[in-house]
Amino acid sequence: MVRVSDTWQVEPSGPLRGDIQVRGSKNAVTKHMVAAMLGDGPSTIRNAPEVGDVDITAAMLEAIGYQVSRSGGDVTIAPNGPALTNTVLPRVPEAFTGLNRIPILMLGPLLHRTGEAFVPLVGGDPIGRRPVDFHVAALRALGAEVEAGPAGISARASRLFGARIDLPYPSVGATETVLLSAVLAEGKTVLRNAATEPEVVELALFLQRMGAHVELSPDRRIVIEGVPRLRGASRWLAGDRLEAFSYLVAGLISRGEVRVHGCPQDRLVTAITTLAKMGAQIDITDDWITASAPGGLRGAAVHTDTHPGFMTDWQQPLMVLFTQADGMSVLHETVFENRLVYVPALQKMGCEIETFAACLGGPACRFHDTNAVHSAVIRGVSKLRGADVTLPDVRAGFSAVLAAAVADRPSVLRGIQHIERGYHRPFDQFGSLGLTVRRG
Ligand code: EPU
Repeated sequence: MVRVSDTWQVEPSGPLRGDIQVRGSKNAVTKHMVAAMLGDGPSTIRNAPEVGDVDITAAMLEAIGYQVSRSGGDVTIAPNGPALTNTVLPRVPEAFTGLNRIPILMLGPLLHRTGEAFVPLVGGDPIGRRPVDFHVAALRALGAEVEAGPAGISARASRLFGARIDLPYPSVGATETVLLSAVLAEGKTVLRNAATEPEVVELALFLQRMGAHVELSPDRRIVIEGVPRLRGASRWLAGDRLEAFSYLVAGLISRGEVRVHGCPQDRLVTAITTLAKMGAQIDITDDWITASAPGGLRGAAVHTDTHPGFMTDWQQPLMVLFTQADGMSVLHETVFENRLVYVPALQKMGCEIETFAACLGGPACRFHDTNAVHSAVIRGVSKLRGADVTLPDVRAGFSAVLAAAVADRPSVLRGIQHIERGYHRPFDQFGSLGLTVRRG
């Protein structure tokens, strides 16, 4: 992906209207790319988005000896020659330090391929401590020697063995680490308190296509019987539920209407009901979902949660939408302790938001006796002003564009690379909805 500029000038442009086709999500495609490391032959991921995280993950795979080719929405990952174990390098270079969360997921596949592994420190968004202790504990339970150093994590294991693993919290990434490590381990792994997010299930389905023996139980339990080898596979990714919600909100906030194609309804159940309770009129067909609010919107109290609850990545667009709804709203973030770091940028744009280190608007969460600022009270309708702001992360960045779209004058948004790391061609998508955006 070519990035022309990291700054956008956004002019308020009236109601946003049009059709958006969403591609697969960044949080599914990148994990499928890691899974492809385990196959004895090439794998193809279809309907992949053009996002910065795919570029970063492709570069990491190439650096350790895989061939990655891309054509339209297809990403193909192939072992670099037939004698796979001889061609894969065990170290992900330190040049990839801090770029995204993917290296930690490569530990298990690298151990299977080479018996040793080094991955640099992971990055991603500044939304809390985001430790990797669950990943490390799971790999140790599977029999790896794991050591965390200042530059990254090293691991060693001539073989991984099935184990019983209980996650302290249903972490998406740690569940993926277990899946990616246990599928080729010797014997049975039983994972309890696993994440059940649609992107995790998609990964499990892809591994099943590669020949893995995976069972998903209804009680957050995943049972994996290790197999000796996996083959390459191909899979079409379902549309990104975060993008779908974000563009529905873009229509609502601007008193327009965006019709989103390509994201199945069952991925948006809680999001749709939240918008409907706020007064949005939602139309759903087998092909698209649309939301409009001819009579305006009212505030609500929402807490984020693991799937199927209101997901933490929907929180930021909703926060801006709350500023344009009548009355007070409350948002309680329960997944990441520090995910309200973007609020100052929105306040600068006139959003009336107050944050609290308390559990407001929902049941007490695991941050209730900490100093984590994780609840917000939002007053609507706020008059938003254009401003010069720097975007801290991918989801918050999209929200600043939404605020800029309904502000009283143009805004300058810096750090657009965060949005382009996670959203498929946002410049073109916003342009197609009628938003005036200029680069630079
Ligand atoms: N946690 C630990 N220790 C660990 C792992 C997680 O304490 O070893 C904690 C985290 O600090 C957090 C909670 O567990 O408080 C949940 O974290 P989780 O592991 O589920 O998140 P993640 O895998 O790091 C993925 C997505 C996030 C998304 C979350 C929750 C990717 C690359 N990222 O993160 O997406 O918000 O799951 O659904 O898949 C985004 O796309 O913008 C984004 C941040």
